[in-house]
Amino acid sequence: MDSVERFVTEVGGEELLDKSATIIRNGGLVAFPTETVYGLGADAFNAEAVTDIFRAKGRPQDNPLIVHISCPEDAKRVAKTVPDVAYKLWETFAPGPLTIILPKVDDLPLTTTAGLQTVGIRIPNNKLALELIRRSGCPIAAPSANSSGRISPTKAEHVYEDMHGKIPVILDGGATDVGIESTVLDLTKEVPVVLRPGAVTVEILAPILGKVVNHKGKVVIAEAPGMKYKHYAPVVTCVSARTPKTAAEYAVRNPGTVVIGSDSFVAEVGDAVPTVALGTTPAECMRNAFSAMRTAEKTYTAIVLEYFGDREEFFALHNRLNKSTGGKILD
Ligand code: TXA
Ligand code: MG
Repeated sequence: MDSVERFVTEVGGEELLDKSATIIRNGGLVAFPTETVYGLGADAFNAEAVTDIFRAKGRPQDNPLIVHISCPEDAKRVAKTVPDVAYKLWETFAPGPLTIILPKVDDLPLTTTAGLQTVGIRIPNNKLALELIRRSGCPIAAPSANSSGRISPTKAEHVYEDMHGKIPVILDGGATDVGIESTVLDLTKEVPVVLRPGAVTVEILAPILGKVVNHKGKVVIAEAPGMKYKHYAPVVTCVSARTPKTAAEYAVRNPGTVVIGSDSFVAEVGDAVPTVALGTTPAECMRNAFSAMRTAEKTYTAIVLEYFGDREEFFALHNRLNKSTGGKILD
């Protein structure tokens, strides 16, 4: 959060925040940091502005947007009914990387929810984001601020790469902390379902919800429309490797390859080929993965990612990286 404060106090952030809020109020788009990834925001109640988000991203029309609010009390502005358990969750996770799906109010445009009668609501844990929402005076619909299918942006520079010329302003809050998108939790079902895994895992949610399940396989695809599309794709070849040995062998056979993985994996790959170490813990690896891929695709012709699918604590990261590789695992 330090960088946000520095930005606000030293770089004229106050005026830029006011200007950004005015842009949102007038139906324009603003990219802003959250604790997960950067978002591309518009007034959630302005269907035309929301249409411009879809256009700027090249996003399919059937993929609903998450609506960002600044406090739990504002959930009623976008959700028809807000169960007690939602407020209970927000006691712990507001602000935080959790999106809650609830029935939408009638006047929230179907453009925002891609035709669904439900809405995903999130209270981001980032001062700039919260201040932008407050000053705009409206809930802000915002997908990740990347071109559709590309790697989600964790720095303002990443947003610039995909969005320059298309939007008037990017609020720069430095590198995001969590690094992958929020957990999407559907509370409209009898048993709460995590449609998209994130930093807030079912294990963390279970004590509050009693019962909660991870949606796996085809059903998820139907339920969280966004998950069926190609996602997080680097512009160069991207595959995964179960062992440092397979990764190293591939990199030797294919000069111009970089191996990206956790510290221990990369250490075992050795010095013979280029490597990028993401850290040791799941939190560190999540924080650094997207940025490492964005950097790597500029320099290398292929990326080998460590395969995280066998490690439960890396469940959310694997969910994303498996899409980057299209599920390709080296033999
Ligand atoms: O961390 C995040 O969630 C970031 C930041 C900017 O807040 N936003 C984000 O938005 O990742 P986006 O649009 O890239 O992903 C939203 C996901 C999609 O998979 C979408 O299908 C799902 O949430 N989603 C949104 N509203 C939904 C709804 N009403 N029902 C089911 N899934 C929904
Ligand atoms: Mg996205």
